[in-house]
Amino acid sequence: MSTIRNKIDPAFNDLPDVDYASYVRATQKEGVAPMSWADAFYPDPCLPSHVSDAVKEALDAGGNHYTMPIGDQELRQEIAKKLLSYNGIEANPDTEIIITPGSDTGLYHAIRPFIVAGDEVLIPDPSYSNNFANIKIMGGIPVSVPLKEANNFQFDIADMESRVTEKTKMVLMTNPNNPTTTVFSRQKLEQLAEFVIKHDLVVVIDQVFESSIFDDREFVSMAALPGMWERCVTVFSTSKSMSLCGFRVAYNVACAEIMRVMHASAVYILGATNTFAQAGALAALRNDDFVEDYNRIFDLRRKAAYDTFNAIPGVHCLMPEATFLIWVNISELGTSGEIAKLLREHAKVAATTGSNYGKYGEGSLRFNIAQLDETKFEEVLEQISVTLTGYAREKGIL
Ligand SMILES: Cc1ncc(COP(=O)(O)O)c(C=O)c1O
Repeated sequence: MSTIRNKIDPAFNDLPDVDYASYVRATQKEGVAPMSWADAFYPDPCLPSHVSDAVKEALDAGGNHYTMPIGDQELRQEIAKKLLSYNGIEANPDTEIIITPGSDTGLYHAIRPFIVAGDEVLIPDPSYSNNFANIKIMGGIPVSVPLKEANNFQFDIADMESRVTEKTKMVLMTNPNNPTTTVFSRQKLEQLAEFVIKHDLVVVIDQVFESSIFDDREFVSMAALPGMWERCVTVFSTSKSMSLCGFRVAYNVACAEIMRVMHASAVYILGATNTFAQAGALAALRNDDFVEDYNRIFDLRRKAAYDTFNAIPGVHCLMPEATFLIWVNISELGTSGEIAKLLREHAKVAATTGSNYGKYGEGSLRFNIAQLDETKFEEVLEQISVTLTGYAREKGIL
């Protein structure tokens, strides 16, 4: 066993061991409410009927063949329309879009062509854990750029400037940001665009949460800013915005010069995305009114969660700007590991520890507030409140 371990790339050996099977069994057996992974409405059904009908039709029509490795043509055309109307991006469906089997794979496929050993990548931190892991797996060096609560988790361009070196190749980020829910402002993204051009960098930006934005906040697609189309890959998914996680349909968008490489390597890395799932995604994109219904639920939940957490002594959070997540500062009570354990044992709730999201994530917990039905959600908020308030009092925090 140890010999085989020695043969494995340290970047893989160093990944934390996860016993998924035991975790899921224990969570179910102990009746723990899952608020940890980013799957809205899990485990309840949430598939709109026009989407399931489209999948059934594709199956009935014998949809058991591959699509091209770059994805179904009609789906790429529909995505091009959406990119123009929602993102302000004009992309050629034949040469500037690729369908991927989920955006985790999409992220890997977007980043890998650029990264060689020793390349440094600036990552606003806290960030989606895959961003750090992917860069390490590829032999690159993730360089954290702190996002501070005092700045509403907007990055400070001076923090990027002070970390850039001649080895810096890429800025890798998530907008809206998982876990902080931040929607990066136009002003910040314009500063970033200037910085990226000045240092001749590439941007890979993950926009999988882009359609759940609250309070009429402006959402700016980095690739639509002047000078960015030539050096930006944008990663999208139907998993979060449309709650189609199980479909595994996502897409990457970039100028033809960059996409050329993703198209060329698609058959080796991606194979092709599931054919009937693509038919379902096409129906969902053509009629996406249900997304507004989901957003109304997320909006109510974020307000209820915000009020509950801020009423607990020693705990505070900002109002979520987007997504169905909430990022809660528990640093006065203990480490994120300690408080997650306490919540699991006493409130029967699974939350994700902040340390998962980079070196600036410690001190917070991330909760998915869309994972339970309405009644269960209210019950669980109450359990969290009772458990953490009791714990704070024990520690003398009022
Ligand atoms: C920020 C972000 N990007 C990408 C993904 C991957 O989503 P999928 O592979 O389902 O498209 C996730 C999943 O949690 C995520 O939170």
